[in-house]
Amino acid sequence: MAQNKEVLLRISNLKQYFPLKKGRVVKANDGISIDIYKGETFGLVGESGCGKSTLGRTILQLYHQTYGRTMYYGRSLDDLAPRYMLDTIKNLPKLRKAWHELAEKEKKLQAEYDALSEEAQYAKHGELDQAKKLTEDAMLNLTKIVGGLIVVEDLQPVMSLYEKAYHISREITDLDDALLDAQVTQADVEFALSKGKGSQAKVDAAAQKCKEIEAKIAALRRQIDAVRGEIQLLRERSRHLPEFEKYEAYRDDGIDLARLTYNEMRKLRRDMQLIFQDPYSSLNPRMSVGQIISEGMKAHGMIHKQDERMQEMVLKVMDQCGLAPYFLHRFPHQFSGGQRQRIGIARALATHPKFVVCDEAVSALDVSIQAQIINLLQDLKEQENLTYLFITHDLSVVKYISDRIGVMYLGSMVELADSQEIFDNPVHPYTEALLNAIPTTEEESRKELQILEGDIPSPVNPPKGCKFHTRCAYCTEICKQVVPAWEEVSPNHFVACHHKLHRASEKKEKG
Ligand SMILES: Nc1ncnc2c1ncn2[C@@H]1O[C@H](COP(=O)(O)OP(=O)(O)OP(=O)(O)O)[C@@H](O)[C@H]1O
Ligand code: SF4
Ligand SMILES: [Mg+2]
Repeated sequence: MAQNKEVLLRISNLKQYFPLKKGRVVKANDGISIDIYKGETFGLVGESGCGKSTLGRTILQLYHQTYGRTMYYGRSLDDLAPRYMLDTIKNLPKLRKAWHELAEKEKKLQAEYDALSEEAQYAKHGELDQAKKLTEDAMLNLTKIVGGLIVVEDLQPVMSLYEKAYHISREITDLDDALLDAQVTQADVEFALSKGKGSQAKVDAAAQKCKEIEAKIAALRRQIDAVRGEIQLLRERSRHLPEFEKYEAYRDDGIDLARLTYNEMRKLRRDMQLIFQDPYSSLNPRMSVGQIISEGMKAHGMIHKQDERMQEMVLKVMDQCGLAPYFLHRFPHQFSGGQRQRIGIARALATHPKFVVCDEAVSALDVSIQAQIINLLQDLKEQENLTYLFITHDLSVVKYISDRIGVMYLGSMVELADSQEIFDNPVHPYTEALLNAIPTTEEESRKELQILEGDIPSPVNPPKGCKFHTRCAYCTEICKQVVPAWEEVSPNHFVACHHKLHRASEKKEKG
């Protein structure tokens, strides 16, 4: 079902390492690549400590991402005009040279690798793989922005046109902010007038201000269209160049979240929210429900002040989340766990996000309340066109709510497929073990997910090769040496296991 959907987030080779003492690191996320589609619920499961929360938070850039790309398609590159775009354009020749050098290095390594025995290749595999990823990253960072134009010999005209386009986009984004501000002011004075305060003159002045900004934006849009026309012309003229079409295919209008500055990411926070596990510690005890819910709206300039209009907006969100209006001035300690979770959800939804990470959002609640909150999340998703990353260690919950499920083990994604497919045809031995361990009683389900004999290895010093090999019943020699590739076993079903084909066909025979 997922293959025709639009991608909202494309995560490639994401790494999140946390430094420890003595130069050691926790590899909490170690090279994860997934797409999250617009409108889906992507379930994320795995044992405690496997890196689920880290992945959710890294996607939201609550951590400084160690490595990899997190492409966001909820807005276009021109909408935001991030600084890294200009840096790339200005440095095109230098960056292109660095990319070619990496490609040379990779070629040399490949030649060395090919000359080795199979045994010795196992040992060298990681290094070659790493070199390939570096080359690819360097290439993508360039081609995402300029596409096939990266092959033209004289990059000067490319750079100057792109720089021009960048500066106009930048001006437009600044004016967009000013427009939002003017619109909020207009709504404020209109609201005041409807309550018999203020004056018509104030409303007219505010409307006039909006019009002026809109006119400026329209003029800039005409300018940028003209520059784009020139860039397109350059493209047409370069099409005959060798490799042009190949690199042109990499052109990409998404925003690489991992490369944004703090302020740029702050702007996007409105689009991307987090619902926490613990509704007790995540709400500020000194703030009223109204203040908690309106905080994000204010921070993103959606409202200006603490007035009746704001109250109306907050009450609307509260109503959506099943919170009675008289809760508005109460404080978190006056509520039950389920109600607090509704407050947390209302806070997340108040900025009208596109993407929400629900990190064990129902795990701390009683089973009967869990069902209510899950239903609320489902309803809100429909109403608001949301996309969820739903993190849980509870497989019965994830099956019910998710369109697709990703299974993580020790910082890596090991299997990904449609929810039903994961439950009907698990291919990775770890997924199979997880499913066999689904608790059947409520008491069992309260315990932490503990599925297999043997300790989970440490993410500081994970096993070589397949990280699961120390606990896997199907392990062979290659598993101990070579990291299994992430590959599609059947349409939209991805697995990282050396023996996946064997296992997949074995299952088919059994089924
Ligand atoms: N800020 C941090 N500093 C250092 N190590 C961290 C940090 N956050 C997480 N870790 C480590 O990274 C690994 C992954 O942790 P994470 O919280 O992402 O796991 P999880 O899958 O969410 O687990 P749980 O199901 O218990 O919530 C763990 O080994 C954890 O100790
Ligand atoms: S690669 Fe080998 S050790 Fe890893 S899950 Fe597959 S069979 Fe088991
Ligand atoms: Mg967690």
